[in-house]
Amino acid sequence: MKIAVLAGDGIGPEIIAQAVRVLEALRSDGLKIELEWGLLGGCAVEAAGEPFPEATRKLATDADAVILGAVGGPQYDALPRPLRPERGLLGIRKALNLFANLRPALLYPELANASTLKPEIVAGLDILIVRELTGDIYFGEPRGIEQREGQRVGFNTMVYSEAEIDRIARVAFGAARRRNRRLCSVDKMNVLECTQLWRDVVTETAEEYPDVELSHMLVDNAAMQLIRDPRQFDVMVTGNMFGDILSDEASMLTGSIGMLPSASLDENNKGLYEPIHGSAPDIAGKNVANPLATILSAAMMLRYTFDLESAAARIEGAVKKVLAEGYRTADIYEPGMKKLGTAEMGGAVLANL
Ligand code: NAI
Ligand code: MG
Repeated sequence: MKIAVLAGDGIGPEIIAQAVRVLEALRSDGLKIELEWGLLGGCAVEAAGEPFPEATRKLATDADAVILGAVGGPQYDALPRPLRPERGLLGIRKALNLFANLRPALLYPELANASTLKPEIVAGLDILIVRELTGDIYFGEPRGIEQREGQRVGFNTMVYSEAEIDRIARVAFGAARRRNRRLCSVDKMNVLECTQLWRDVVTETAEEYPDVELSHMLVDNAAMQLIRDPRQFDVMVTGNMFGDILSDEASMLTGSIGMLPSASLDENNKGLYEPIHGSAPDIAGKNVANPLATILSAAMMLRYTFDLESAAARIEGAVKKVLAEGYRTADIYEPGMKKLGTAEMGGAVLANL
């Protein structure tokens, strides 16, 4: 298992260090884990003059999986666009052909008060949103702003091919099989032909997954249902734009940005794993950041790239226990709980592994 470790900027190095401790602990289970460090983002600009240096490209391409902290920070805001840390992110996602984004929205019962929704609506929420990442209106041609008949007109093109829909559907059905065998596909087929094709192809692909129960929902209704009764969902699959919006909506149902991991996969289940939050420059270097999103990203790596369900579940179980024991980092702290720093939280997870 060759894993590229890209700590990045801000709190990146602190949270990655804890995920690495957890991965290293699994070596005692006989897992042959090889870790190699590289630079991405602002730290790469400082050391190598670009946010996604050739050495990092090679490291990431040769690895089976990549674990990433986060990139960016105010000290890089003045850099010209091609040198911005975010360019490093776009660069690595493109270089690895990552087309499937997996975003769990999981709310541990102990943290139900962190949500802005009532605990009885969200406690125990456990959704996985599978978002297509490389197509849709974000990349379709033609696109632009032009003068037409004396005024400016803006336009983009929503486009998906059968093959693109089929491959993301397969990732979603596969993920549903690892969970509760329920998949909801989200589209806007009443208005958009592109998403009529989406519904047709997902329905055809479903024939190969007779054990998974498929349903369809229009995106506007899905946005409402996520707020009204989010626990009705298990796995959801949708295109790039709807997925962008719904995955952010779903993650905020949990109210804890420091708890949420993500995965981006290619056709061979090679993946990039990272917390959904950014580099949190406001708390960097203070040993207060929550490392659990990154530790849970490592668990997703074991599950989706290496097919090691029991090792993944072991990490997730350790996180659950730590929360049940009342340990909290500052971002999820409530009176009466035991406050821990970043490294101490990593240690608590290790102790429960
Ligand atoms: P952010 O996610 O870094 O921070 C938002 C708020 O959440 C801050 O108050 C921060 O302290 C808190 N927070 C985030 N992660 C936390 C954690 N693990 N534990 C405790 N608190 C946490 O978003 P923001 O402030 O908009 O962006 C900061 C920098 O990160 C920017 O340069 C931005 O471009 C970059 N960024 C990078 C991403 C990535 O690497 N994938 C994603 C989002 C933003
Ligand atoms: Mg977004």
